[in-house]
Amino acid sequence: MKVILIVDDNSTNLRTLGEMLRPFYRIRLADSGAEALRIVGSQPQPDLILLDVMMPGMDGYEVLRQLQADEATRYIPVIFVTALHDEDSELRGFELGAADFLQKPVRSAIALSRIRAQLDAKEVRDSLRKSNRTMVSQMEEGARQLEVAQMQLLQSEKMASIGQLSAGIAHEINNPIGFVASNLSALARYLQDLLAVAALCAENPGGRDAEAILADVRAHLRRIDFDFLREDVSGLVAETRDGVDRVRQIVADLKGFSHSGDSEWVWADVHAGLDSTLNIARNEFKYHCKLVKEYGELPHIRCIPSQLNQVFMNLVVNAAQAIEGEGQITVRTECTGDNSVQVSVSDTGSGIDPDKLSQIFEPFYTTKPVGKGTGLGLSLSWGIVERHGGSIKVLSEPGKGTTFNVRLPIDGPTGG
Ligand SMILES: Nc1ncnc2c1ncn2[C@@H]1O[C@H](COP(=O)(O)OP(=O)(O)O)[C@@H](O)[C@H]1O
Ligand SMILES: [Mg+2]
Repeated sequence: MKVILIVDDNSTNLRTLGEMLRPFYRIRLADSGAEALRIVGSQPQPDLILLDVMMPGMDGYEVLRQLQADEATRYIPVIFVTALHDEDSELRGFELGAADFLQKPVRSAIALSRIRAQLDAKEVRDSLRKSNRTMVSQMEEGARQLEVAQMQLLQSEKMASIGQLSAGIAHEINNPIGFVASNLSALARYLQDLLAVAALCAENPGGRDAEAILADVRAHLRRIDFDFLREDVSGLVAETRDGVDRVRQIVADLKGFSHSGDSEWVWADVHAGLDSTLNIARNEFKYHCKLVKEYGELPHIRCIPSQLNQVFMNLVVNAAQAIEGEGQITVRTECTGDNSVQVSVSDTGSGIDPDKLSQIFEPFYTTKPVGKGTGLGLSLSWGIVERHGGSIKVLSEPGKGTTFNVRLPIDGPTGG
């Protein structure tokens, strides 16, 4: 049974209305605005309120205002009960959100039909609101799942590209490790030779004088070609240090690239990202392509660096793979007028047929054999750049080469 709250400071009115409605509804009574608000806040919450306008203390308007202000009570329909026909107070009541008006003395048939109408309308509204809420939460859940799926796709494409690059990366690491190891054996030999000098001086087993020792030392130094050793050692040390730095850098770049779940928006240096990406991908192009870097002056931009690096990686590896014989890859950066930066990756490779240009950004479109391409690179890059509020444009001439222009706003979005 629906619950109706009747609010009136006049006890006769309260009683009469109550008796009239009691056969059809469960009735609750309040003789003041304050009492009405208290009852509304307790169970069972009324489905409808008949509210007297003129009351001492808190009048009907104020009760309605407070009901409207509270999310828990604003959907309860309120019918004002006015003493006389008064258009001003009706207007004000409607403005405040009253559902309807009844005039005193209240006639049973009219009251019942108006109440019925309001209760029916409330039922429809309630069920609409409920299905709306379910729909919204289903949509939110869907969006969340989509986001998770997208992140997973990004991550797996990243892993796939690292997988494809791994032989080259291993090579990039093994190469310096190889010469560091051979430098170390050379240095160990030199150290032995120099320690022998120290031994000649310090141990002096025959008890000879300084002249004789000096002659021995000089003879030893000639034997080991000291002049050459002196030259060679500093070179070996510098080269070894350089090799260790290269390995350390590649490992750091790799870590920055593969960082999973990293989706923080930060102000970052685009050139640092490009350099570390080029470093990881070096083996893909260094034997057959000349790399030309034309970096302009760029401010830091707000971005998710690991995701941008993924875009750069795709473009550079695509460029390298598009070049069959010898060729050139040009990476150019510049500040464009519209508060954006542009990163261009150009190659002198095969180019793309005009009728294929619209397909290259589609997921799984690839012209490469299994193991070389997933067909996901450009579609994910598109998504990443879009999320950064930027755009990717491609210019290509079959047989001549291709340029990808990535435009990114400096003050990129922080959301999504
Ligand atoms: N620089 C380029 N030169 C020529 N063709 C390209 C270039 N970049 C992309 N493509 C074409 O677009 C396709 C899709 O690229 P992408 O989405 O990165 O996937 P994948 O590299 O795994 O094939 C490539 O297979 C290739 O046919
Ligand atoms: Mg690719």
